[in-house]
Amino acid sequence: MTRTLFVTTALPYANAAFHIGHMMEYIQADIWVRFQRMCGTKVYFVGADDAHGAPIMIAAEAAGITPREFVTEIADGRQQYLDGFNISFDNWHSTDSAENTELAQSIYLALKAAGLINVREVEQFFDPVKGMFLPDRYIKGTCPKCGAVDQYGDSCEVCSAVYAPTDLVEPYSALSGAKPELRTSEHFFFRLSDPRCVEFLQDWTQNGKLQPEVANKVREWFVRDENGEGGLSDWDISRDAPYFGIEIPDAPGKYFYVWLDAPIGYLASLVNLFGKLGQDAEAFLADPEVEQIHFIGKDIIYFHTLFWPAMLHFSGRKVPSNVYVHGFITVSEEKMSKSRGTGISPLRYLELGLNSDWLRYYIAAKLNSHVEDVDFTGEDFVTRVNSDLIGKYVNIASRVSGFLSKRFGGRLRADLGSDGAELLANLQSRVPVIAELYEAREFGKALREIMALADQVNFYIEAHKPWELAKAEDSETELHQACSTGIEAFRVLTVLLSPVLPKVAADVAAFLQVPEFLWADATTLLGEHTIGRYQHLMQRVDADQVDKLFEAAPAVTEVEPAAVKAIPGGEPVAEQISIDEFSAVDLRVARIVAAAAVPGSSKLLQLTVDVGEDQPRNIFSGIAAEYDPQELVGRLTVVVANLAPRTMRFGVSEAMVLAAAHHDAKAEPGIFLLEPDSGSTPGMRVR
Ligand code: 2FM
Ligand code: ZN
Repeated sequence: MTRTLFVTTALPYANAAFHIGHMMEYIQADIWVRFQRMCGTKVYFVGADDAHGAPIMIAAEAAGITPREFVTEIADGRQQYLDGFNISFDNWHSTDSAENTELAQSIYLALKAAGLINVREVEQFFDPVKGMFLPDRYIKGTCPKCGAVDQYGDSCEVCSAVYAPTDLVEPYSALSGAKPELRTSEHFFFRLSDPRCVEFLQDWTQNGKLQPEVANKVREWFVRDENGEGGLSDWDISRDAPYFGIEIPDAPGKYFYVWLDAPIGYLASLVNLFGKLGQDAEAFLADPEVEQIHFIGKDIIYFHTLFWPAMLHFSGRKVPSNVYVHGFITVSEEKMSKSRGTGISPLRYLELGLNSDWLRYYIAAKLNSHVEDVDFTGEDFVTRVNSDLIGKYVNIASRVSGFLSKRFGGRLRADLGSDGAELLANLQSRVPVIAELYEAREFGKALREIMALADQVNFYIEAHKPWELAKAEDSETELHQACSTGIEAFRVLTVLLSPVLPKVAADVAAFLQVPEFLWADATTLLGEHTIGRYQHLMQRVDADQVDKLFEAAPAVTEVEPAAVKAIPGGEPVAEQISIDEFSAVDLRVARIVAAAAVPGSSKLLQLTVDVGEDQPRNIFSGIAAEYDPQELVGRLTVVVANLAPRTMRFGVSEAMVLAAAHHDAKAEPGIFLLEPDSGSTPGMRVR
């Protein structure tokens, strides 16, 4: 029976461009999906933007546009990445959509009817400076579980604990830096602590389908200590206006917390797709035969293995069949995405003309079915791609195809001789094992198997030496057999690599003059068939190009250091000025209260800074490559407060943030924002 799959990847927040971490998840899911499709499985593979929530609302406000305009601009930038890396989503939608609103409201009403929604007065943090209840992400403090400092109000990035902002130790407002006050507001809760939920989730998470390490992690969340503390707690699912989100039915001024409607966005994207296809989405989503699979990162396990299945189950819906969790991607062993200077931009990768199949191959070679981090290093990337893809795989076709077209008009021979037939039989005997590895997401192992087969093919070619047969007399048959075997083997290897290398696979299919590959093609032979002329399939990776991807390439000094006069920071110190001249520059301590990407600019971030005046100032700063906007919120820095305002394409910049950088960004890359010592407050003059 053919399987039917509904596959999703985590929905990215619509507040920034994709980074390499997103691409890793999409590549992982896409390889799996392509493998399934090749096997004849019907797959609906969907994604969407996670559009709601306070951070996006605040970023839009800072950008001077509506949240809807803001997320639309971000959404417009998605396709170039998805096309660039051949991610074969069937649909891309948004949580800010009619489908999601309807689904979220109906799921909520069903949970309410099931007696799983509570309304409680809660004390919540209120920012007395900003005059609003503070969103979780804008309250920072020390994690109540592990003691890590500077953690957000909803969950800890160090120990993954999920808690209420009021549980934070020494909280502060990231918007104003003020100590937040507790005020009362009515909130809606999903009663995760209800015995029905606990019982259901204990079974759902521990029945063997989750990855063992994930099931173990989840098990800890159920544990209550001797005082009855711990265990699953009720989940606060409402937020007060102003909020960019979905309204809670019959509750004016109340909105669903973004994490309530985010996973529902998976269903919304599917509903949207089925609308276009004219198919019945609700019947599909209820069909027990349909396997629903979510690919996610390890930071959002709690939401996907507890809240999400419980929401679905108790609203009378089908639960996920599985949640496949992956680790993070690090770049040269450094955690990326949040830290600056270590990320490599997927768009830059494409702009540099690097082949998308290289990255897909490299990432696949490092992936397994476990929650392990994957490291990208430039040198390793060059070596791996060149030695495997060029040295072992593409090489096979380039060694034999010339003789086939010149000597045999591109015609393959069905009789491959005993060596050839044996080689092919051997390759084809490994196909089921490789299929199992793909199915189990053991991509690294699958590729090692395939490369071992490529070694066998190269060994065969070395042994038969077609270049010598071509010169010898009376070796026509042997030459034809050797080259035909080479091409048949190359085709089998290509079928096996197709989920990982969609671009190459399409080019090979065109070269061999065959239809798009199916998995079953790996166990057949072309026999008497005429192939086209060999076109160069793939370049070697040029290490210089890869170096350009990395901002952090260290400068090589070729001059004897003692012979040159020290030039600090790469530029001589400027001409002397008087103290009066210096005093003309008014430097002030400022707090960054909001930071956002500038749609349409890869360089600029838009900062809203409090300089101690009545109104915050707007600044455009060229630090987008270095800083994640979310990281900046709440930080103190120094600005030139009396610089003439500058009108830019995106708006007026009303001050300048001070930052350090080497004169030659290549020599010592990075831009480093200045930060005054703690204790200083916005408006203080720097002199
Ligand atoms: O962590 C994140 O980036 C979230 N935007 C993921 C949401 S996944 C799903 F629930 F929508
Ligand atoms: Zn913690």
